[in-house]
Amino acid sequence: VRVLLVGFGVVGQSFADLVEHEARKLDHDYGLRPKIVGIVDRKGAAISPAGLDIKKALTSKKQSGTLEGLGHDIYHEGRNGVDTIKDLECEVVIETTPTELTKGEPGLSHVKTAMMEGRHVICTNKGPLAIAMPALMELAHHNGVVFKFSGTVGGGTPILDFAKKCLEGSTIKSISGILNGTSNYILSRMTTEGVAMEDALAEAQKLGYAEADPTYDVGGFDTACKLVITSNYVLGSSMSIKDLDIKGIAKVTQSDIEKAKERGNVIKLIGRVEKVANVAPQEIPMTHPMNVSGTFNAVSFDTYPGGEVTLVGKGAGGKETASSVLRDLIEIRRTFAR
Ligand SMILES: NC(=O)c1ccc[n+]([C@@H]2O[C@H](COP(=O)([O-])OP(=O)(O)OC[C@H]3O[C@@H](n4cnc5c(N)ncnc54)[C@H](OP(=O)(O)O)[C@@H]3O)[C@@H](O)[C@H]2O)c1
Repeated sequence: VRVLLVGFGVVGQSFADLVEHEARKLDHDYGLRPKIVGIVDRKGAAISPAGLDIKKALTSKKQSGTLEGLGHDIYHEGRNGVDTIKDLECEVVIETTPTELTKGEPGLSHVKTAMMEGRHVICTNKGPLAIAMPALMELAHHNGVVFKFSGTVGGGTPILDFAKKCLEGSTIKSISGILNGTSNYILSRMTTEGVAMEDALAEAQKLGYAEADPTYDVGGFDTACKLVITSNYVLGSSMSIKDLDIKGIAKVTQSDIEKAKERGNVIKLIGRVEKVANVAPQEIPMTHPMNVSGTFNAVSFDTYPGGEVTLVGKGAGGKETASSVLRDLIEIRRTFAR
């Protein structure tokens, strides 16, 4: 399977490293031999139809922040994602550029171009999906390509396919989830140690969980993206992020947390979809399985007749998210082998 990586940051590099290390197992267990024929980052593209030297690519990126270490015949400074997707022959495009929520770019153009060129697409970038998921599903169908995005929700925890495949036959009445590790870390620190919100946020930034601009996480937008994707994929809705009422955790006070404790509850940032979808801080019982601490994610599906089913796991991380991308690639391989 010839693969083009668009985006070579934490997730892109972790994926390249993973397929390099797991090459034998992937071939033996799944008959999958991924060949990375192109990598694009913000500064240019490295292209080799015979397959890139991944160790060299990783070393070059670490040392210089670019792929120029692969040599002048392979590295093309300034070459962009859309042109590379159009010109380079490959079966799968993996999109891992940063999430952007006003226009979904540059990811949206990458995903659309790939589909129109007949490439299967794996996307970890939430932007294109939060903004235009129904249209992208339609475009994939129209062009006869597979569109997978497991890494957009839950990092390495297989939330989407768990609901879609393992809960088959059940009716999912509602979905509630703690889907943002940064907010959950902050609320956990405020609850268990009485740390002030600003200090907990500073800790999260120091530990690399939160961005310098934490609005996306703390304001509830990351949770909203993941809720849109989960609801559309699992429940068949056709939402975009504009359809959601979104409240973040900025207004949660220590006094709110203490009062919740007196009632035997904890405050969590919850994305919930039943008839309507919203994101807001809510109280849940301390004994509820969704009461996860730190950067963990938890999603609870209220099902008929099975009752409540909760899935807990690490919600982010390069290696974890790369494992989702790999699962998607295995599924694509299986689909086109069939
Ligand atoms: N990290 C996680 O744990 C995680 C988990 C789940 C989902 N995600 C999502 O996955 C995506 C990637 O995350 P990440 O942590 O890998 O981000 P990252 O480390 O910031 O990497 C982003 C990559 O995209 C490249 N890029 C930016 N603009 C580009 C453009 N116009 N054309 C081509 N490449 C471009 C960057 O290039 P340069 O290297 O040249 O700057 C960089 O290589 C994001 O959308 C994120 O929300 C991340």
